[in-house]
Amino acid sequence: MCGIVGYTGKQSVVPVLLEGLHQLEYRGYDSSGIALQRGDRLAVHRRCGKIRVLESDLPKRLAGKTGIGHTRWATHGEPTDDNAHPHSSEDGRFAVVHNGIIENSDPLRARLVEHGVHFASETDSEVLAHLVAAADAPTLLERVRLALAEVEGTYGIAVIDAESPGEIVVARNGSPVVIGIGDKEMLVASDVGALVRHTQQVVYLDDGEIAELTPSAYRVITLDAAPATKQSASIDWSEETYARGEYSHYTLKEIHEQPESIRRTLRGRLDRRFQAAHLGGLNLDARELLNFRRIKVLGCGSAYISGCIGARIVEQLSRVPCDAEPAAEFRYRNPVIEADTLYLAVSQSGETFDTLSAVQEIKRKGGRVLGVVNAVGSSIARACDGGVYLHAGPEIAVVSTKTFTSTIAALALLALHVGRMRDVSVAQGKRLLDALDALPDAIQTILDAEDEYRQMAKKYAHYDNAYFIGRNLGFGVAMEGALKLKEVSYLHAEAYPASELKHGPLALVSPEVPTVFVLPDDDLLDKNLSSIEQVRSRKGPVLAVTHPLGENAERLAALADDVLEVPKLHEYLDPILMLIPLQFLAYFIALERGCDVDQPRNLAKSVTVE
Ligand code: F6R
Repeated sequence: MCGIVGYTGKQSVVPVLLEGLHQLEYRGYDSSGIALQRGDRLAVHRRCGKIRVLESDLPKRLAGKTGIGHTRWATHGEPTDDNAHPHSSEDGRFAVVHNGIIENSDPLRARLVEHGVHFASETDSEVLAHLVAAADAPTLLERVRLALAEVEGTYGIAVIDAESPGEIVVARNGSPVVIGIGDKEMLVASDVGALVRHTQQVVYLDDGEIAELTPSAYRVITLDAAPATKQSASIDWSEETYARGEYSHYTLKEIHEQPESIRRTLRGRLDRRFQAAHLGGLNLDARELLNFRRIKVLGCGSAYISGCIGARIVEQLSRVPCDAEPAAEFRYRNPVIEADTLYLAVSQSGETFDTLSAVQEIKRKGGRVLGVVNAVGSSIARACDGGVYLHAGPEIAVVSTKTFTSTIAALALLALHVGRMRDVSVAQGKRLLDALDALPDAIQTILDAEDEYRQMAKKYAHYDNAYFIGRNLGFGVAMEGALKLKEVSYLHAEAYPASELKHGPLALVSPEVPTVFVLPDDDLLDKNLSSIEQVRSRKGPVLAVTHPLGENAERLAALADDVLEVPKLHEYLDPILMLIPLQFLAYFIALERGCDVDQPRNLAKSVTVE
């Protein structure tokens, strides 16, 4: 969603801000803008549309050393030039960029208007610029602190003042703000991806903190004006990690990175001595883990779906009842938080508002929650009691691919960890570890068949609707396959458990509605084949993603129009292997339909608002 970048130092600020904004593009945006200090005034430029529109509009010679920039995702007010950030005070002295939502912006706006302030936009964010201007304080830091004392809602902000040269003030409440420490230069961003080109040293602001940045120093205080001591951290990833390289899209790059991202998720965690998993960050000893009688997985979108698959693995392997629930549903139903339930929060970005709020709700009620998170140091990771980092590497494409499969691998490790404390034998543990070891190579064989998926996509790209059907773990694969397809190709796709077909969905099966069957070679194969027969008898086209089926292959060939085979590895890891052809299918169908795969319409990478 919205992105913030800021810089103060020795470099010319405009290229630094624009490059930072490009790094934030992947989060999704509809307009962009920058503000910089020029002598004793500020220059502000904002445009609706892509960053290149802003770039082409900038004056040729726009020099300055201190500035802030923003990519906006409209919440209050249409995407227009006027609603784009930065927002300025009426006299042009202060400029503000804001991520989040100011919940009491209406009464604040009404009060400011009563005092004669004229608003230039429809946004909630603009009140911040006027509040800072109205604050009676000698420093910018103090002005921002006083302004924020009046505000309810979520924010990550950066503010500059024409009369405070070289200074940026930033603050955070519920929306990420990271300070980048350079050599006689200081940066700020809502996402470390916008900092890595300049520095690996960062400081994560916590909620309720305000910081003053100058080229040579930063100072952090709380909203109550108490000094805050912060530790800096190193970012693991370099600039190259964020580059698209030889790939035409980040989505394709990230699909192809899966052998490596899975290797990183597994690295150091396969405990061959005890045929178990070694998870150092849980902060729970064996006795504490054994006391949990239930496990609950929470997440949104693909994170929730990976949680659905992971929950089945956890339950089947550890025999601890485990289920998954969308994080927002969970937090709004006033859930009973039980002391003997272990909660798991799954999130790639670690910043998803609904998941973070669910974590906070659990903690408020005394529950124990672990994160399964990709972004190190993110809000969810820090709010949890411990957890498992995915280490899948930065995911830039809006739709998740490699982090989805890494989450399943991480949850399989957790299932093994808990399972080996209970009923899982050494032999069963070894079988899963052997399969985890073999997983990256098995994924590679699927990636090598990319052309087959490209061809298949050509055949299915013209349909407007599709069903995705599976059972048990295969249903999770169907859900994710359908979500991927609808997200990137705008083709309407719905997932159902195979057993539900005859309870309604069959009504829509016709030659115009293909069905993608997730058909592992497992105990339910016969049942799945008869579900395919039900679709065939209504003349619905069928594409099956399956294993080498031996003597059943002929039976399937007679029923399915198309078959995509993946290697069979292990019942708990097969969902990963069966999903990858569906990721490719979504990708290539989107290309066939001329869609913007990396940045699908209406979607943002990191959903930091409710
Ligand atoms: C789908 C997708 C989204 C995210 C969801 C949660 O491809 O990417 O559904 O999975 O917005 O995001 P995180 O995992 O960052 O919490």
